[in-house]
Amino acid sequence: QRSVQSVKLVLLGEAAVGKSSLVLRFVSNDFQENKEPTIGAAFLTQRCSLGNNKTIKFEIWDTAGQERFASLAPMYYRNAQAALVVYDITKPNSFIKARHWVKELKEQASQGIIIALIGNKVDILEEDESLRKVSLEEGENLAKEEELLFFETSAKTSFNVNDVFLAIGNKIPNN
Ligand code: GTP
Ligand code: MG
Repeated sequence: QRSVQSVKLVLLGEAAVGKSSLVLRFVSNDFQENKEPTIGAAFLTQRCSLGNNKTIKFEIWDTAGQERFASLAPMYYRNAQAALVVYDITKPNSFIKARHWVKELKEQASQGIIIALIGNKVDILEEDESLRKVSLEEGENLAKEEELLFFETSAKTSFNVNDVFLAIGNKIPNN
């Protein structure tokens, strides 16, 4: 018989990096060119079946990246079992912010939280390679140093989006 395991997952990252768009892609296989900023946070769920007769029910807290909501984040990551720390590969500041989030999670979140570092918006490079401002190596190196999962993604084309959640699901210990 299939077992269903609930996993609390939080998304963190600078405003407009595409957190809500990644969730929209994962949950509804949809994309919006002009997605409105998240106010406070949004809660969504999605099931994901893994190969081994196991289903993960992701309980997703999609936080708001705008600075005025920064004080809310600890409420959402405190009891999370997994986190996506998202940056925009065309925005160097968003990568600096991602580093800060990883540090804060390591200090304040649950021991053993599974963290995935996500460099989003790779589709933009199809138009102009010079728009890349955070190299693949920078992302890989941070992930290696901090022992994070790492993916470059596009919520727009759906590139690697499901793989992020599958990789997290596969790292969740059986309860
Ligand atoms: P906050 O809720 O303010 O923290 O922002 P967010 O991180 O949730 O970003 P959101 O998903 O709202 O996306 C911001 C803008 O980037 C929107 O106009 C999206 O359409 C666009 N966007 C998101 N993901 C991608 C992507 O992978 N590629 C491209 N080209 N645009 C994207
Ligand atoms: Mg959002």
